[in-house]
Amino acid sequence: MTTEDSGAVVDQRETPTVAVRCMSSHPTRAAYAADLAQTLGLPLVEDADGPYPLLLIVTDDRLELLQSGSPEGPTFCEFADGAFGYRRSQPLRRELLARAVGFKGKALHVIDMTAGLGRDAAVLALLGCRVTAIERHPVVFALLEDGLRRARESDAAGSLAERLTLVRADACDYVDALPTNALPDVIYLDPMFPERTQSALAKKEMRLLSLLLGGEEDADRLLDAALRTGCHRVVVKRPLHAPRLLTPLVRVPPIEFRGRSARFDAYFTGTNAQGGGPLS
Ligand SMILES: C[S@@+](CC[C@H](N)C(=O)[O-])C[C@H]1O[C@@H](n2cnc3c(N)ncnc32)[C@H](O)[C@@H]1O
Repeated sequence: MTTEDSGAVVDQRETPTVAVRCMSSHPTRAAYAADLAQTLGLPLVEDADGPYPLLLIVTDDRLELLQSGSPEGPTFCEFADGAFGYRRSQPLRRELLARAVGFKGKALHVIDMTAGLGRDAAVLALLGCRVTAIERHPVVFALLEDGLRRARESDAAGSLAERLTLVRADACDYVDALPTNALPDVIYLDPMFPERTQSALAKKEMRLLSLLLGGEEDADRLLDAALRTGCHRVVVKRPLHAPRLLTPLVRVPPIEFRGRSARFDAYFTGTNAQGGGPLS
């Protein structure tokens, strides 16, 4: 695993939403919590009684995001156990995501412009793809880095972690700066969308992400930037019945891969854009 971090703090000038709290008695974890608070420009609090709707909790072994006063458990990045562990045991090549990115056994290089909690990036890495996962929010990025650190240390997910590179940046800036000879096989994006899926777990995670990220919505900008690179295949995840993203750069309609709650729209550029694009 490698990480690139252009370094920035959380912008909380208007309404402070997040504070860091250490719930471990280990001095190394307390030092990590203090460092994290300083790096992210967040307050370090002793208890959960403050005015912060979200707490970034440092436990003995991981970093968690928790909604203050909510009965729901924490959210964290997990690539080895839990729901992701179950997913690992399934035949991944049949995953809709694998088909949408055109995976046929050959390892692809995929840029994931919207890493979030890294689940899609991890599925692609599990398939054997080399994934550059970009996330711009410092708190989400910290959760990702923590998940990957644990993955790297585990027997089950060590090789997955080797294929993932995390980059903290605005993904539009990142792909704008890509030289043409460094284009990936696929650019993937999964922009925020309200009430995206029926899954209770995803709902909780998405609710927390929405609280953290506010109403940010730059889906069209992300797709424009991805298509402008000239990358052959650009794949967009959408809720099943959501409208397609609009962009003047698309000359042929995307090919849709439809699942039970999500849909992947695959856009083809270059020569395939004239001929309708490959159907797999
Ligand atoms: C819906 S989540 C992605 C979930 C992810 N696919 C997963 O499997 O966990 C969208 C993420 O994209 C990030 N994001 C949105 N616009 C971005 C941009 N321009 N550059 C980098 N990250 C961005 C948000 O901060 C958020 O974490």
